[in-house]
Amino acid sequence: MTETNGALPTPSNGAGSTLDSGAPAASDRNSLSIGSNGPLLLHDVRLVETLAHFNRERVPERNPHAKGAGAFGVFETTEDVSRYTKAALFQKGARTEMLARFSTVAGEQGSPDTWRDVRGFALKFYTSEGNYDIVGNNTPIFFLRDPMKFPHFIRSQKRMPGTGLRDNNMQWDFWTLNPESAHQVTYLMGDRGLPKTWRHMNGYGSHTYMWINAQGEKFWVKYHFKTDQGVQTMTDEEAERLAGSDADFHRRDLVEAIERGEYPSWTLYVQVMPYEDAKTYRFNPFDLTKVWPHSDYPLIKVGKMTLNRNPENFFAEIEQAAFAPSNLVPGIGVSPDKMLLGRVFAYADAQRARIGTNYLQLPVNKPKVKVNSYTFDGHMTYEHSGSAPVYAPNSYGRPWSDETGPAEDGWEADGEMVRSAYSLHAEDDDFSQAGTLVREVFDDAQRERLVQTVANHLAGGVVEPVLSRAFQYWRNVDGAVGERIEKAYYEIKANGASSR
Ligand code: HEM
Repeated sequence: MTETNGALPTPSNGAGSTLDSGAPAASDRNSLSIGSNGPLLLHDVRLVETLAHFNRERVPERNPHAKGAGAFGVFETTEDVSRYTKAALFQKGARTEMLARFSTVAGEQGSPDTWRDVRGFALKFYTSEGNYDIVGNNTPIFFLRDPMKFPHFIRSQKRMPGTGLRDNNMQWDFWTLNPESAHQVTYLMGDRGLPKTWRHMNGYGSHTYMWINAQGEKFWVKYHFKTDQGVQTMTDEEAERLAGSDADFHRRDLVEAIERGEYPSWTLYVQVMPYEDAKTYRFNPFDLTKVWPHSDYPLIKVGKMTLNRNPENFFAEIEQAAFAPSNLVPGIGVSPDKMLLGRVFAYADAQRARIGTNYLQLPVNKPKVKVNSYTFDGHMTYEHSGSAPVYAPNSYGRPWSDETGPAEDGWEADGEMVRSAYSLHAEDDDFSQAGTLVREVFDDAQRERLVQTVANHLAGGVVEPVLSRAFQYWRNVDGAVGERIEKAYYEIKANGASSR
């Protein structure tokens, strides 16, 4: 007797499913066998296709920023900033479709959204001049200022090679051996290291970029996306509870807010520095571990971004989304920030490996403008240039580019080739802006939470010689706070408690 398959919930409408080739598929429930109990047959095309495609369902996750989600929306330029940039998307009245993706840095795909971490704030604008990406974070600064250190940094925040466990000692070993991290670590250990939701955090371009106006004048800019929902954070206790009960808390919050029609928005401001100021400004303006105090360069309003549409398919539109600081448009350039220059190489290279050579042909990454690029062939070519010449220059009418002379978005550089840290400006050092954050931006309650968060983190497995270096690191940030952290650490140890 043959066992039945059980009743189907909804009868098929008769059309049935198809093979990937489009031809009718025989069955999505039973493989082809010799008799009911017999061996399977290799010519069951549906079964082979089902299993083989399944084996290839995943692409490698992003190395950093693996866990995240995003939504589509629109950016509208509401102010006239044409004296600083000619970029079409930043001309008053321009409305540009866009995509945003938010993420944590260190965690893997399935990791909790509420681990204390920096949050990615990646934006793609589908502009009338090609795609423009701002791939920033929810912090205006970063841990490092030389791209050589980035892979070391990311490895130190992920997992131990032997045990596969995350390890506070490894994190502090890296941070204390790289004291330029102090400003960002202070930010991370402060309240903003745990945003309540992605809707309640600001976004920053972090780096200094160049803007160029229609007259060819150059300016240095920093982007600030201020949340219109207000900045809100969560406590360590709440974050730990959610990490256990709802690992996708931030992802869910964004999806549900948009489903409810509560579209989150951010107002974009820029700080603008005249080109020449960079040479003499009291901080090196290209050092990613520094901010420009607003008293030196006030915020100038530009426009508003609103997220109003959830993706239809998470994998196709979010996993395969490829953000890159190298996606620039006329009127916007990079700067001498070495981290930014490293990133300009790294992202497109990662995406060619992670997604595939022709990842820019996928709908989510495809520019809205016509592309006439001389890159050619490769895996999964979909867009092509027919029989047009594949070389430039050519005699058969396919346009090519031929700019000569100084680069419109270039800057001057000279000197011999060296391996060296940046030259210091008058007030540059690793700890003073972190100290200002602790003393002048944090209030008493925030300072106390910082002390407890750091002490708890240190009590979660940090050992000598890293521990003493960590106490000294905090004394360098602020003498009093450093003393309090050490004291709080020994109290936690005496009580036998730690965060882990
Ligand atoms: C030299 C320094 C850096 C290097 C080499 C680097 C490299 C990378 C790579 C390879 C990815 C994965 C890209 C992908 O697979 O699609 C990534 C993701 C990301 N990085 Fe960086 N990164 C650096 C610094 C930074 C900084 C300073 C920021 C923020 C200011 C940042 C923000 C992000 C964000 C937001 C993502 C996720 C983008 C998305 O949502 O798809 N990174 N980074």
